[in-house]
Amino acid sequence: MFNINEVMKSEYRPATNSKSKSSYKLKLLFLAYKIVLLILYDSIIALFKKFNPKKPKNISKKLALVTGGGNGLGRCICFRLAHEGCDLAIADIDFKAACQTAAEIQEKYKTVCKPYHCDVTDKNAIYKLKNDIESEMRGVDILVNNAGLLYMSNFLTCNVDDIERTVSVNLTSQMLMSRIFLTGMIDRKYGKIMTICSIASVVGGPTLAVYSATKRGLDGFMRSFADELLVTGNDKFIKLTSVYPDFMNTRQEITETLDSIRHFLPRLTPEKVADDAVKGMMRKKKFVYCSKITSFYFASRYMTKSSKKYIATRVMNISHFYK
Ligand SMILES: NC(=O)c1ccc[n+]([C@@H]2O[C@H](COP(=O)([O-])OP(=O)(O)OC[C@H]3O[C@@H](n4cnc5c(N)ncnc54)[C@H](O)[C@@H]3O)[C@@H](O)[C@H]2O)c1
Repeated sequence: MFNINEVMKSEYRPATNSKSKSSYKLKLLFLAYKIVLLILYDSIIALFKKFNPKKPKNISKKLALVTGGGNGLGRCICFRLAHEGCDLAIADIDFKAACQTAAEIQEKYKTVCKPYHCDVTDKNAIYKLKNDIESEMRGVDILVNNAGLLYMSNFLTCNVDDIERTVSVNLTSQMLMSRIFLTGMIDRKYGKIMTICSIASVVGGPTLAVYSATKRGLDGFMRSFADELLVTGNDKFIKLTSVYPDFMNTRQEITETLDSIRHFLPRLTPEKVADDAVKGMMRKKKFVYCSKITSFYFASRYMTKSSKKYIATRVMNISHFYK
């Protein structure tokens, strides 16, 4: 492990190749043999798991913190978690909406539910949020990193401040939240962290350069984070779930933008995505793909340039982004 500040201050040292080529080749061959065996073993286990899905774990009385829980998908996740008997802390920059959601949930489910004002891009605000929740409620068992901005733009002319803000809300904040709340989860030997990625984590497209970069970054973060929990043994009690929704009808501006591009694929409801997400988390699923046409997205990675251009210009209508 190296200290990034010390490395940047010291003089640049080019790497030297210390390994002899012959022993390297032999080791590589042996490693390839072991990997083939592991893949075989993993395939058998995956097949077994497919036909014997895990039973959902009871999360009643756990304390869940949902970022951006005042509106849209976050609000629906709060209701879905309350339905499972969770107590809730709702953190949102839109405090009025957080209060409204908290009041409705308390009325409907009689669970403990508190609203918190927090801008999740501000690390000091996150530390304060943690202290406030721990003193007014208790330690967070379930963290739902949902707050995000669906930013669609012409990258060639977009506002640079918007790039910074999108990266900060969609990517940096999720790492800060996870890092700051993880310590308590490890101490208490219980934790679930759910992250709302997007189908844009799987495939990008015109108008989505910045958004897709943040969501793809999140996917990379969650996969590497899971591996770190695995090698340290913390994966036994800290479970991660990444959720990949297709476009949803949430904020009106989002719906209007999506309508304007003649998006030809069916749009999801946030209630359905919240249901899939919470059920997936309770079944300890690492990945929850909410769209039935996910395989279309995977396939579109391999489209030719002309097919991509045809879909972008003839099937969808995105010309107004590029005037
Ligand atoms: N709407 C879609 O089509 C779609 C598709 C795929 C993924 N997603 C993802 O789902 C998540 C929720 O999206 P949504 O459509 O419900 O959005 P939304 O705009 O309806 O709601 C987002 C909520 O997050 C809050 N928020 C925004 N910035 C914040 C900040 N800095 N600190 C705290 N709270 C903040 C907002 O006040 C709002 O309550 C996002 O991560 C988004 O990227 C959305």
